[in-house]
Amino acid sequence: MTGTVTARVAAKVNVQLAVGGRRPDGFHDLANVFLAVGLYDEVSATPADTPRISVSGPYAERVPLGDSNLAARAATALATWHGLPAPGVHLHIAKDIPVAGGMAGGSADAAGALLACDALWGTRTPREQLLELAAELGSDVPFALLGGAALGRGRGERLAPLPVGDTLHWVFALADGGLATPAVYRECDRLREASGGGATVTDLPAPEPSRALLDALGAGDARALGAALTGDTDTAGAADRTTQATGLPRCVNELQPAALSLYPALADTLATGDAAGALAGLVSGSGPTCAFLVPDVESADAVAAALLGSGTCRDVRTATAPAAGATLLG
Ligand code: C5P
Repeated sequence: MTGTVTARVAAKVNVQLAVGGRRPDGFHDLANVFLAVGLYDEVSATPADTPRISVSGPYAERVPLGDSNLAARAATALATWHGLPAPGVHLHIAKDIPVAGGMAGGSADAAGALLACDALWGTRTPREQLLELAAELGSDVPFALLGGAALGRGRGERLAPLPVGDTLHWVFALADGGLATPAVYRECDRLREASGGGATVTDLPAPEPSRALLDALGAGDARALGAALTGDTDTAGAADRTTQATGLPRCVNELQPAALSLYPALADTLATGDAAGALAGLVSGSGPTCAFLVPDVESADAVAAALLGSGTCRDVRTATAPAAGATLLG
């Protein structure tokens, strides 16, 4: 193919992020319930003499353009796997997913680059191999390819798709600035060590998903999911065992206490969404974006307006879930 190939990739929210012990490789064992939400980046691949990357959209200036750009690394990884020379490709990212927001925007761009370059180069990489390359690029990249909903085990890269019974409505409150994922995991370890729960951060119970949460997701029952997210139902499992081991308060997103510790103003954002009638509010992944589950479009608009008017966030977005995985356009 000689023209331009474009892939569209969705953001994610973690409806549960149970964080187990730190492994010898520095990653943490997870039970990660991913849900793809309808905020999208588009990654276009065009043949070029030298590798080039450009970004447009509201968050463009915050995206690194050097070798640390995950989309550029994805193109290189795909070319290397096929034994091709350094990729002469221009990648353009039309960015609509918040940067460093806990919504896997960089991972989405990597998944989009894998798909778009594979089509552009006609390399027809088997799906299993694309998922393997994705996992090497980052823990969240395989899910960005897959979309829908999935339980991620290991460091989040070993995926089992999950059913979602109905459309779910979300509001996202975007914060000023971002949080670096490694720093949030480090803070999670520090809080656990400091909590006096008696656990070492390398020796914790295996993280497990909440049965009530998976059932609510499968039924597409927003109210039941809200109850599972806020702990109003029995969300027992290893999340609670982790809580007992660490002595920290239970949170369906176990990175949330760390994100709040590094970014205390997020507590005001969460309280504002709660007061405005959200079924549940949580920090998205490692933050600082806050995600609010709402029952319908009307409530989404009302919660979004309340958040925007409160001055407790920089911007708000509404989106539905589940969204599809990385898809070629045109
Ligand atoms: O896999 P990814 O590159 O997205 O991870 C970024 C960082 O987040 C890792 O370097 C690590 O510090 C942390 N992380 C972790 N455990 C995971 C996933 C990520 O500690 N399961």
